[in-house]
Amino acid sequence: MSGLWREVGTIGEIPAAGSRVVRTDAGDVAIFRTAQGAVHAIEDRCPHKAGPLSQGIVHGGRVTCPLHNWVIDLATGGVIGPDEGCVRTLPLRLDGERILLDFSVLVRRAA
Ligand code: FES
Repeated sequence: MSGLWREVGTIGEIPAAGSRVVRTDAGDVAIFRTAQGAVHAIEDRCPHKAGPLSQGIVHGGRVTCPLHNWVIDLATGGVIGPDEGCVRTLPLRLDGERILLDFSVLVRRAA
């Protein structure tokens, strides 16, 4: 497995339609679990004015930023129109209950 994969916890630590934050030197990452059970990892920084997306409302496969209500697609990181923008997504794998993230996207950006 190439990349900078690291275990960051288990699915059971994230409530349905909730999130948890992983802090890194290159910025915080928000891991979301949808009500349907999907798990996604994106930067915890809204592309509008850096709002903490981890504190937003999760609905379907999206999160609404708590500051000004922009809506972000959790799978792609893309902003849902009419607003425009994108947050980085991190590759995520599940090994049973364990969540593994590839942090190489953040390391490349910080370099
Ligand atoms: S900071 Fe997220 S919508 Fe403004």
